[in-house]
Order: sequence, then C-alpha cells, then structure tokens
Amino acid sequence: MSDAEMPIWNLEKIIHEGAEATVSEGKWFGKSAISKVRRKRGYRYPELDRKLTKKRIAAEARILFRLRKKSFPCPSIYYIDTNNSQIIMSKIFATPLYEKLNKLQSPKLILEEIGKLIRRLHLSDISHGDLTTHNILLSPREELFIIDFGLSRISPELEHLGLDLQVLSECLTASHANIKNPMEAIIRGYISIDGANPDSENANKVITRFEEIKSRVRYHG
Ligand SMILES: Nc1ncnc2c1ncn2[C@@H]1O[C@H](COP(=O)(O)OP(=O)(O)O)[C@@H](O)[C@H]1O
Ligand SMILES: [Mg+2]
Repeated sequence: MSDAEMPIWNLEKIIHEGAEATVSEGKWFGKSAISKVRRKRGYRYPELDRKLTKKRIAAEARILFRLRKKSFPCPSIYYIDTNNSQIIMSKIFATPLYEKLNKLQSPKLILEEIGKLIRRLHLSDISHGDLTTHNILLSPREELFIIDFGLSRISPELEHLGLDLQVLSECLTASHANIKNPMEAIIRGYISIDGANPDSENANKVITRFEEIKSRVRYHG
C-alpha cells in the first residue's frame, strides 16, 4: 500500500468505554496508537457542554505535550482534534499496575519509584487529579508510565498535590491491602527528589498537606 492509500486512523478495537471517554486502540499512519474521544455529557446546555469538553481535551493534550518535552514517561501526542474531542497518542506497551501490583516480588521498590515519578510530575507544576493504579502502567521491563491526564491541572494548588497522594493512598488501601504501609515507600520516593523548581511546593509541605487531608477524611468519614 502506498502512503497515500494508508488510512490515517485505523481502529482495531475499543478497549475502554468509560463514563467520560471512549478509548480505542489502532494504528496511526501505521504506528500503534491509542485514541481517546471525550464524550459530551448531555447537560442541559449543549453549547456550554461542547465548550467544556473541548477545553478538557485541549488541556489533556497540552499537559502531555509539556511532560513529554521533559522526558516524563507518559504517552506522546500524535494528533488532537478539539472539534471532535479526540486525542491520538502513542500506545504504551505496559499493563495497569492495578493488575500487577499484588503479584510483584518487591512491590515496595516499585512504590518508591512511583513516589519519585509523582514528585517529578509535581515539580513540572502539574497535578494528576485521578492517581489510581489504573492510571499507572508497568512494562514487562518494570518501567513505569503515568496516563490519563483528563483531570490534571497546570499550576495546581497545594491541596491538589496533597490530593494526588490521598487518592493513591485510598486506592492502595482498597485494592492492594496485602501491601503493608504502602505510603511509607511512596513518601520515601517523593521526598528523595529535590525541588529544583522554585515555583513548586516543597515536598515536605505536600506530605504535611496529605496528612491533613487524611485526618480530615477520617474525621468526617
Ligand atoms: N497511551 C496508552 N497506552 C496504552 N494503554 C492506554 C493508553 N491510554 C489509555 N490506555 C488504556 O485505556 C484505559 C483507559 O484510558 P484512560 O486514559 O485512563 O481513560 P479514562 O479517562 O476513561 O479512565 C487505561 O486504563 C489503559 O489500560
Ligand atoms: Mg483512567
């Protein structure tokens, strides 16, 4: 097939139909890729709905672009179509940590690496917003990747940084209860990376905020 005949996006299979987005796998100019199409939410005001969906997809693409420039392990953007709320990105050959963590020989080592990665993300002045073990991928060579920046923020507040740790902490307790004190390893990794960016929050401040959020949640149930 000549280049001119090659379909641009060749859908192979739908891998995830979430409430917010349809994620599918296919080929982009022959390369393995992932397409994410954000669904309109069906709110009462279609015009506002369309604008919000468009904004979210543009924000997700902007964040991926920014992170890849810093060699952060996340997908790279191939294509973005804000009118159809679609992003096409590189496919990462790795499995969600959700499926792997409970079977690992030394989960603590992986958790410490995840802590470092979260700190690198925060030092890039970005919060994730949905940091569960479904959105962290682990490759067969034990390389880690973070995906799904649909709820991320640029220039987050201290609270958003603390919340990233809190969301992960809750997910580890709920789905990976066989690992004792997982946050100890995460925090060890998190504070081991120095804050080279004077604009971002100090690691210890983020940990303190995380502890505060945790006790707030415990107190108010
Ligand atoms: N770039 C990617 N490479 C490989 N798998 C991916 C990629 N993006 C998404 N996936 C897979 O699709 C699932 C859903 O994608 P995600 O971006 O997390 O959407 P949602 O917002 O619906 O959670 C992920 O948990 C992961 O298994
Ligand atoms: Mg996800």
